[in-house]
Amino acid sequence: MKKQAGQRRRRFWVLIGGALTLSLSACGGGSSTTASTAQTVTTAPTTTTAPTTPTDTFTALRAATTIDPAALANYATPTLPAYYDATVGQQDNIPGNNQTNDRLATLGRVLFYDKQLSLNRTVACASCHQQSAGFDDPRRFSIGFSGSTFTSAHAMRLGNIRYWRPGSMFWDRRAASVELQVSHPITNAIEMGFDASNGGITALITRLQAIGYYQELFTFAFGDSTITEDRLQRALANFERAMISSASRWDTAYAQVFSAAAPNRGLDTPLPGFSAVEERGHQLFMTPRANGGAGCAACHVPPTFALAANSQSNGLDAGETRIFKSPSLKNIGLSKFFMHDGRFSTLAEVIEFYDNGVQAGPALDNRLTGANGAPRRLNLSPADKAALEAFLLTLTDTNLTSDPRFSNPFR
Ligand code: HEC
Ligand code: HEC
Repeated sequence: MKKQAGQRRRRFWVLIGGALTLSLSACGGGSSTTASTAQTVTTAPTTTTAPTTPTDTFTALRAATTIDPAALANYATPTLPAYYDATVGQQDNIPGNNQTNDRLATLGRVLFYDKQLSLNRTVACASCHQQSAGFDDPRRFSIGFSGSTFTSAHAMRLGNIRYWRPGSMFWDRRAASVELQVSHPITNAIEMGFDASNGGITALITRLQAIGYYQELFTFAFGDSTITEDRLQRALANFERAMISSASRWDTAYAQVFSAAAPNRGLDTPLPGFSAVEERGHQLFMTPRANGGAGCAACHVPPTFALAANSQSNGLDAGETRIFKSPSLKNIGLSKFFMHDGRFSTLAEVIEFYDNGVQAGPALDNRLTGANGAPRRLNLSPADKAALEAFLLTLTDTNLTSDPRFSNPFR
């Protein structure tokens, strides 16, 4: 149901080809390397499913991984709760030419876990985006391929990235889409090392082209074994968008009270199975500031908890001109560091910040200002702060963190 509505809407996802360049650097933010030339994303619908049943024996793939091409995991048609309906589908950033597809997502999974993607074969995407941590990195700053240099931004959880409507990736939104994001860590001098001085993404493509399981997988996914930057981007993005979080304790409870016809879709309805503290936190999160709540849901929008498309700065630093985004708050309880620079190491600190630490600045969102335009103060009681934290912990989704579809496929 969600899929059909999404497909119709996705037709107008267009990137004007050719002239698009990304001026910012790499995955780690603020590092000194320059990004590879941005790929053009064509709008022509491309066949991504090889039409026939596989005739290949996949000898190399079977030797290297546990994947069975004859019994692929289901990425394209997951069973989602009823509230993942057309309303949520409106937030979906899947482009028309990269609909979720089991073969592409399977290829994306192999790429995501493959250390061949880093110059010295020590780091995979999954090194910094660990499934057990909600695809976050338990470290404040991630360690790059050299083993001794660090990213300058904290890594991001990847659950529900598809429901961030603008589709732009990184804390500072500098990659225009999930597809275009893919090349950044690969060509970053700190993260995976295929920067211009090491041959760029072309050097990686040459390497992958010689690997048997990629010859098999690219043929399986695209009909021939040619590897291009565009195909790498589409496969990895396809896999990442399949990482939907819909099975936290909050989801289980909300599923019982959701009704599309109810006021606010039942989001304010008391939740079965929630403790009094969790329920208090739930109410504070969902209720607008004007009605005595903490107003969090205005930006971290349920049921996906991805950021509202129109969110401005949350005022971490006085005078901030940049407008950061947040990943979905699903699995926030599995993260060890919070915000773009990982400045907070407990949720209590995050809540303390929203209570009384929001700073004035030109980019500050007016949902975080008071009547006089100054940063608002929530003045929450200690009990309410604890309640808000207890609610955030109900967003932990261990289905996503243990789902074999997103696990390491290598033997
Ligand atoms: C060395 C650690 C490291 C590696 C390797 C790495 N990443 Fe990241 N990733 C990060 C960091 C740090 C950020 C945040 C960077 C920023 O915003 O400047 C990030 C951000 C992202 C985001 C943005 C999420 C959002 O909501 O905006 C995506 C998607 C992502 N990475 C996917 C990947 C993929 C795919 C790979 C492999 C091709 C990869 N990463 C490799 C550390 C890493
Ligand atoms: C104006 C929109 C807005 C409102 C309202 C808002 N936030 Fe945020 N939130 C953001 C933005 C933007 C970020 C990312 C900021 C950054 O890292 O630079 C963020 C980050 C966070 C993070 C850290 C995410 C991570 O992965 O590190 C948490 C936790 C969080 N917010 C919780 C809350 C809570 C709880 C409330 C209510 C008290 C709230 N937010 C209200 C916009 C908002």
